[in-house]
Amino acid sequence: MIKSKIIKNIKNYQGGKSEILGMKSVIKLSSNESPFGPSKKVLKKIKELSLNTNRYPESNSIDLKKSISKRHNIAITNIFCANGSDEILGLICQLYLNKGDEVIIPKNSFLMYEIYSKINGAKIINSQTNDFAVNTDNILKKITKKTKIIFIANPNNPTGLSIPKSNLDNFIKKIPIRILVVLDGAYAEYLGNKNYESGMSYVSNYKNVLVTRTFSKIYGLASLRLGWCYANEKIIRLLDKIRGPFNVNKIAQAAGSIAILEKSIEKKLISHNTIWLNKIKDELKKLPLVIYDSEANFLFIKLKKGIKEKENLNKYLLNKSIIIRTLDNYNIHDCIRITVGTAKENLVLIKSFKSFYSNEK
Ligand SMILES: Cc1ncc(COP(=O)(O)O)c(C=O)c1O
Repeated sequence: MIKSKIIKNIKNYQGGKSEILGMKSVIKLSSNESPFGPSKKVLKKIKELSLNTNRYPESNSIDLKKSISKRHNIAITNIFCANGSDEILGLICQLYLNKGDEVIIPKNSFLMYEIYSKINGAKIINSQTNDFAVNTDNILKKITKKTKIIFIANPNNPTGLSIPKSNLDNFIKKIPIRILVVLDGAYAEYLGNKNYESGMSYVSNYKNVLVTRTFSKIYGLASLRLGWCYANEKIIRLLDKIRGPFNVNKIAQAAGSIAILEKSIEKKLISHNTIWLNKIKDELKKLPLVIYDSEANFLFIKLKKGIKEKENLNKYLLNKSIIIRTLDNYNIHDCIRITVGTAKENLVLIKSFKSFYSNEK
């Protein structure tokens, strides 16, 4: 029997829009991807391997794990690689959840946590947020005997807000060891500040902490689908049992192995992002908008006049070939999310916002 009753109540995930009907080129700022794509060295490897696709890939992503291990100074036995970090989220739910279990997810968080938890029969318990910021005390209050997993995106998508390190340190200590804490670090590379902890430093002390990371953002490999996680060996062994035999394709393995060791390129990309994130924030703060303190590669903005203003602004930007992300799927109707683009794209974005609001007056 198909789990039709459960599946019926699940809304399809909808990614950011990529096209505008009738427009040849667009400025796509809707999916938090890198505007640059991979490095020259990575591209060369991708081209080379794309000519040779008749063999299955190496099934344990060994070279990729070696590169991740070298870069992050962690043991290979604590690393699991997957077809996007998204695959890991699904596998974790398969591994941990039974019908009636509870999963705690902060309100307005990444949608796939809820989808995978529900597929596996779990009940979603949303913790409260303070003006969109994750409230760790409220998560603690929501824990019951039935809680199996707590998902936290840090920084969160769609808000870009992160949890201060000292707050997260105290929180992790208080979680019963029987509950798995998934810290999703999809945007971790972008946060250089001392007050941030992706969770990597917890794994050796806490057997119940798992950190997910992705190659879809700073490394510009979203279309190859590549992610990994760092966790206790026992969890990694179990994930290995339930995954598909060739879950990471050959091109992704090779591309990721190179990309994660290109530190100086990563540094430049982080610098571009920091400069432009701040510049866009500074410019848009001059307009009648509520600009949140997003720290990843995107901004989260509240529109003071709500839904109507959002609709008008979105329409206006689409006319200028700019695609941003509206957040109705996240149940947030008066906010938008905008990814940092290339310098040229960001300038067009700022100019378009200014012209929209000068017409609004
Ligand atoms: C918080 C968060 N986690 C996970 C993902 C999925 O990433 P991947 O491309 O590695 O599946 C995303 C993608 O946008 C995300 O925002």
